[in-house]
Amino acid sequence: MELTHASNIASHISLYAFLATVLYYVVRSIYRLFFHPLSAYPGPWLASVTTMYGGYFDLVTGTDMVRQLPQLHTKYGPIVRISPDQLDIEDIDAYNEAFKIGTRYKKDEGFLPFRDTLFGIPDVPTAKKRKDVYMPYFSHAAIKKIEPLLQTIIDRWKGHLLEYSNSGQICDLSWGFQCLTLDAITQYCFSKDVHAVDHTDFIMPFLESLESIRPSATFSKYFSSVVTALSYVGPRLPPAISRYIFEGSHSFGKFVEDCEEHMRALNNATEPRPTNSYPTVFDSFFSTDASKSRKHPTLTDAQLTSEAILFVGAGMDTTGTALITTVWNLIHHPTAAQKLRAELRTCDSLDLEHIEHLPYLTAVIKESLRFSYGVPGPIARVVPEGGTVIAGRKIPAGTVVGHSAYVYHNNPDVFYQPEQWSPERWIDSTPEQKKEMDRFWMPFSRGSRGCLGMNLAWAELYLAIATLYRTFDVQNAGTTEEDMEWRDRLVTVQKGHLKVKLQKVE
Ligand code: HEM
Repeated sequence: MELTHASNIASHISLYAFLATVLYYVVRSIYRLFFHPLSAYPGPWLASVTTMYGGYFDLVTGTDMVRQLPQLHTKYGPIVRISPDQLDIEDIDAYNEAFKIGTRYKKDEGFLPFRDTLFGIPDVPTAKKRKDVYMPYFSHAAIKKIEPLLQTIIDRWKGHLLEYSNSGQICDLSWGFQCLTLDAITQYCFSKDVHAVDHTDFIMPFLESLESIRPSATFSKYFSSVVTALSYVGPRLPPAISRYIFEGSHSFGKFVEDCEEHMRALNNATEPRPTNSYPTVFDSFFSTDASKSRKHPTLTDAQLTSEAILFVGAGMDTTGTALITTVWNLIHHPTAAQKLRAELRTCDSLDLEHIEHLPYLTAVIKESLRFSYGVPGPIARVVPEGGTVIAGRKIPAGTVVGHSAYVYHNNPDVFYQPEQWSPERWIDSTPEQKKEMDRFWMPFSRGSRGCLGMNLAWAELYLAIATLYRTFDVQNAGTTEEDMEWRDRLVTVQKGHLKVKLQKVE
């Protein structure tokens, strides 16, 4: 009897809890639709009610929310409410205002991965202090100075490609490019040679591990607290259980541990470090000049490690995806590949000094960056105090506004037939058209929070593509269109791998 009474009470409590939850969501939805500060802005009603409107495309259909944005702008105009607390903007003047040098727009803290790093610092003045330390190592002139380092890596990489062309074996260029960019970034940033390009078939456990955990970037956009909880619980679980749950991330974790050890050794070294033939970004914090402090004034071991991982993450996939996009499009446009090779044959050597002035090579890379986006978007910023006006409408201070390279790069009024990959558009267009295209071309973002590694990326792109096309004929070996479709993983990443056959041409 007592038992029945207790179970009645329990079922009543469950019912009330359920009704309270439903009521909470109904009231919250009504508030978001009619009383929220953004309720006056147009957009799909479901997007106003829940962030899972975007989650549906990103997590359920796998078609990516960012790809919906051009249609949404066509339907609703330059300002679209794409989630309860965020507007998406298609207005190049508003973009230039938010992404200029010295902008007052800070990064949105709602979704800010890599918290302990330069990337994760929301406000511009604080980020500037940290960025100013790095800037001298990423200027155009500084990157020119490390050309011998890049060239050594490229030569080793080319040596392995020659083995493929000799044996007639299929080469997985997706792994090949990632190994190349990984070696460049780890050696330049913290003088650590992981010999990625020397791995058999370019297969490296760290890269495989990274590939398996990439979808978590999309998941954490919607369930960041779950990811934070997992990263807290993971290391505290018994190793057997943790290995079972986090199997894919094991080698990634090992790489992080190695970095941690390396950074701790750098940070705590008492002996002056040997002078390298080239300056490396993190070594440079540790001056050999006795009159200067050996330590970077603000960064702890842990912060340096996070920063190292950020540099690897920021520099590898983005450059790798751009390289893959370039080759895939050249495979589909044999005339363009021939034109490129003819231009490369006019150079006595493939020095950066020469090749970065080649108009067709530059156009091929620029067009491929238009297609690979870097960060497709929306890149979110917060409207500063005093608010702003976009497309004639007032936007209150504190509003999160996003801009997407995917939207701007596909604007048909600026890029004629934007879906066509055409390096010629960067050569044959009128000066006015080129100026307008440059205004809408933003793979590296712009302004105070633009890409730190842009010059390094350009150098890698120039050297890798010039070396590949000067030395080899590149043919597809079973890669499908679907393999080369990209997914939005904060940065763009192709679904599958680019497999090619190489034949030596010189
Ligand atoms: C084709 C290659 C690359 C592309 C397309 C690219 C693109 C971008 C974009 C769009 C941003 C801004 C993201 C945002 O505001 O949310 C960014 C930031 C950044 N990138 Fe790159 N990137 C590339 C290569 C590199 C390389 C090689 C490095 C090496 C160090 C690097 C380091 C960074 C860093 C540290 C930031 C954060 C800057 C800040 O927060 O102020 N990137 N990149």
